[in-house]
This record gives sequence, structure tokens and C-alpha cells, in this order.
Amino acid sequence: MAGDVYERVMDLARRRGFVWPTSEAYGAVAGFIDYGPLGAMMKRRIEDTWRGFFVVREGFYEIECPTIGQEAIYVASGHVKGFTDKMFQCSHCGEYLRADHVVEGGGHCEHAAALDEESLARELSTLPCPACNETIGDVRVFGFSLMFQTSIGPGSQRTGYLRPETAQGIFTDFSRLLRFYRDKLPFGATQIGKSYRNEISPRQGMIRLREFTQAEAEIFVHPAKKEHPNFARYADYRMPLLGYPAQLAGTPAVEMTMATAVETGTVANEYVAYYLALTHEFLTRVGVAPERLRFRQHLPDERAHYAEDCWDAECLSDRFGWVETVGIADRTDYDLRAHAGHSGEPFTVFIQYAEPVRRRETRVIPRMGALGPRFRGAAKQVADGIAATDPGIASSGDGFSIEVDGASIEITPDLFDVREIEVEIQGEEVMPHVIEPSYGIDRILYSVLEHSFDEEEVEGENRTVLRLSPAIAPIQVAVFPLMSRDGMDRFAQEVVGELKRDGLMAEYDDSGAIGRRYRRQDEIGTPFAVTVDYDSLEDGTVTLRDRDSMRQVRLPRSGLARTCSALCAGRLRFDDLE
Ligand code: ATP
Ligand code: GLY
Repeated sequence: MAGDVYERVMDLARRRGFVWPTSEAYGAVAGFIDYGPLGAMMKRRIEDTWRGFFVVREGFYEIECPTIGQEAIYVASGHVKGFTDKMFQCSHCGEYLRADHVVEGGGHCEHAAALDEESLARELSTLPCPACNETIGDVRVFGFSLMFQTSIGPGSQRTGYLRPETAQGIFTDFSRLLRFYRDKLPFGATQIGKSYRNEISPRQGMIRLREFTQAEAEIFVHPAKKEHPNFARYADYRMPLLGYPAQLAGTPAVEMTMATAVETGTVANEYVAYYLALTHEFLTRVGVAPERLRFRQHLPDERAHYAEDCWDAECLSDRFGWVETVGIADRTDYDLRAHAGHSGEPFTVFIQYAEPVRRRETRVIPRMGALGPRFRGAAKQVADGIAATDPGIASSGDGFSIEVDGASIEITPDLFDVREIEVEIQGEEVMPHVIEPSYGIDRILYSVLEHSFDEEEVEGENRTVLRLSPAIAPIQVAVFPLMSRDGMDRFAQEVVGELKRDGLMAEYDDSGAIGRRYRRQDEIGTPFAVTVDYDSLEDGTVTLRDRDSMRQVRLPRSGLARTCSALCAGRLRFDDLE
């Protein structure tokens, strides 16, 4: 068949109802897609598998925040000022293009995002414009905000932004989450939902969308305790890591265990290593081919200035090369500190010491005997104000002033003492660090489609098959009556009902020759097919066919639903049935 793998995968995706251009009747808009019936189902299954890992297993409850946020959130997070990509306009064809991508496409530089505007303009000047092929020449590169702006309420009184990541909702809910988790670290929260970025030139199908789905976990940990409590789960997990020194030296990824990765300093800490391994397990579980998956560490000039360590899980695409699908970062206390600074909320956790610590401290002690007669009802407030004063200021000998209910009050030296006393400290306020695995569901879905796409010749005919894992295949079992007569159709409909009662997505199909029906299901990745024939009517058995091997076994109808459930959940292998 003509076309590269991308074209063939997207042709299948469009034809069979996985992914469609949006609002086609009016002309599709770049960067937006519709998921058709099979795509929407497959996407939910990927999201549910993600929930199985992060919500059920890790215990990070899911929250759901609005997709429109008030301006203050994104001023604090730094997005309003700095969430930009570098852009230029081709002077020949007028097309707006993303400068770093065009430079990377030119092959001179692998990570052009770190270059400044002048360097990008220099690199671009000799390259051909990807839209019109003319040499770009003299060009101005400038920042373009990726945030979609809107207004909240009538009269445009309040500016709002469509969220560019789900993470900020979790950060701004920090204090309530902390209480929910009974004031103890570590804890985590997750969110799956739409994010929006006004991408400059989204020409990469499902890879670069203006509206896409993220699944993010924000894990709040003690800044000085980055040993993961369950690290043992992944300590011996082996996977290839492409650290930044290897990238600089031009050497390939090195396969190592997570324990070695942390011991050798390849990965900054156990938390980051734990989520690298979990991400590898998740991606391969949903169907990313392990040999087309790598974990690449950000180069020092590519990494956000606040991040302690940052890795991308990248999936290899036939057309787009290595594509970032998941980002895993130690974001330190950058986000909480930013929100604390702008909102006035503390965004800290009180950590109680195992044993109270005794210390000598200089304190300003109010003289209550003198304050009472002078300030009467306000004496307590004045005393609190005195006690909160910096001992350095109070010990000058001249007195000082404090503010009580908006009024300035002069505190003369006869109203207090400055003394060293022994205090018992019960604990301290700490600002947690955040470990963030951030998944792009659309890019994962596309990678799974591409990696599971296969074509082979069977008995002189071309067979297209999506080798999807039963966990994410949109339809799990297809049921065919050999012919739609003599009671085979009713029998098959009853089998569909039994499978559905067990929670399986089953589909009845009686149109066309049986071979064509198999091919139709192979093409959409249905892992199992049940056929009802004349023997079924006689002895109550059916055949069950495995998509990948195309082998068949005969089974009694009773127990079929349980067998199919076990096969789909991975508790049973088809080979075991034979
Ligand atoms: P890129 O460099 O490709 O633009 P990014 O570094 O901006 O990606 P992040 O900000 O780390 O991506 O976002 C986290 C995840 O969200 C990414 O790993 C990706 O899977 C997904 N994502 C980001 N931007 C898009 C987009 N425009 N379309 C689809 N998915 C996206
Ligand atoms: N929350 C990580 C990102 O979207 O960049």
C-alpha cells in the first residue's frame, strides 16, 4: 500500500473511526481533532490504565479543576510572562513558523529551544522555509505566548486563561489537599483533563495539538527526604537511560537498573528514578514498543532553571523521529514558592520532630504589669505585637513602634525586656518539593497506534492488524454467527449479552463473509473473536480466535465470558487454552 507508516496509520484511524479532523463540514482547524467512537473508547482505556497505576496503586487521588483559570494563577506560575515559543514569519510566503523546530529540521542543531533569538535568526538565515522552500534570509525571531486568553463574565472585567497544563489546579489546591492527606508528607494528587496551547504551526497531526489531554501527578515530598518509600519495587528494574553526558559525548543510551541509576548519580534521586521505571512499565503495558522507547535526560541548558532533574520518555515515530510523550521532573519548591509569594498563603507543611529540640533564643518579652494599666482592653494585642518584634530592633534601647488595628503605637523601653531564654521547638514549617510525571495522552495514543500497526500477507491476501493490548483495545470481543439464520444469529446475540454482563465490550457482526469480518476486527485491534456455527446449535460450543496468531480453540459457551475476561485482564494466555 502506498504512503509512509504515518499516512497508513492515519488513514486507518480516519476510516475506522479512531480520529477525525474536527468540524470538517466547515473546514478543519489545525491543532484540533475529534476522537471517533473507537478512538474515544481507546483513549478512555489508556486513561483508566493510567488511573490503575497512579490512583489505585500509588494512592494519589484524582481531582478535577476548571480548565479556565483566573489571571492571578498564571501570573504567579510565570506562564503569563514566560510561556512563549520563538517564532518568525517567512518574508516570502508569510507563514508563521516555530523557529527552533525549523532550525532542528535543518539538521544543524538538535536542541534549538535553548538558543536565543539572535542565534536562531542566524541559523535560520541559510535554511529553506518548510512552507515555501525559499531561503529564509534576514528574519526577526520573537516570543509568541502559547496561552489562550479569554474574559470571565460580562463586560470583560476579569481576564482568564485556558490552562496550559493541569498541574496548576493541584498546586493551588495544595492547602486543602494537605488537610485531606492529614498533614503528612509525602502525598500526591492527580488530574486527567484538557490543556490548551496556542501552538504556532501544528503540522504534526496528533503530536502537536492546540487542545490536548494531559494526565499529571504532582507528588509533594520533604525537600531533604528524596528516598522513595517503595523504591524496592523498581530498584532492580532495568531500562535504557540516555543521560545528558552521553548525549554530549554522542554515545548511546545505557541500560541499567534504577538502583544503579541513583547510585551513579545518573538520576538525581529515588523519586525521579521510581517514576521513570513506572512510566516505562506503563507505556509498555499500553502498547508502546520497548525498542522504540527511550528515556532522555534534559541537557543543562534545556532544563527549566528551577528543575533539579528532568527526563522525557520519548517514543520513536516513523515520520516524526523521537517524540516526547511524558516529562518527569523534580520541580523543587518552585511552584509552591511562587504561589505562596503571590497569594499570601503559606504553602508549607508543619513537620513535627520525633523529639522536641531545646534551643536558647533571644526574645522580646512584654512586661504585662506595665501594659495592663496603659492599654487596658488592647493590652493583649499590644503584647502580641511586642513579642513578634525582631529582637535586633528591640534591643537598640530607643523603643520602637508597632501597629495595632491600623494605628501606630509607640513602645517605650519600660514596656519590655530583651532576654535570652530556653525554648522547646516541636517542629518546623517546610515547603515541599514537587516530583511531577506529566503524560500527554494523545501522543501516547498515537504512538500505540503506530507501534501496533502491522501488515502481513496471509494466504496470498494482505492483512492489516493493530496488535493492541486487550487492556486498551476499543472492542474486546467480536461475535459472529456463521450465518444469520437457523438460530445462529439469536445464539450469537445471547453470547454478546453474556459478555457484556461481564463488563466486556463485545460487538455483534453478521455482515459479509466470515473472513472479511475477521479482517475488519483485526484492523481495529479486536483481540478475540467468537464464531457461532451449526455445531454450536448441536453441542453448545463456540470457537474463540486469537487475533495475533489467528489460531482457534473450541470452548463451551458456559464459562466463555469468564475466559474472555481473564484473557483481557492478562490473567490467562491464549496458549493456556490450547
Ligand atoms: P514540546 O517540546 O513537544 O512542545 P513540551 O516540552 O512543551 O513538549 P510539556 O510542557 O513537558 O511538553 O508537557 C507535558 C506533556 O504534555 C508532553 O510530554 C506531551 O506529551 C504533552 N503535550 C505538550 N504539548 C502538547 C501538544 N501541543 N499536543 C499534544 N500533547 C502535548
Ligand atoms: N506540567 C508540566 C507541563 O505541562 O509542562
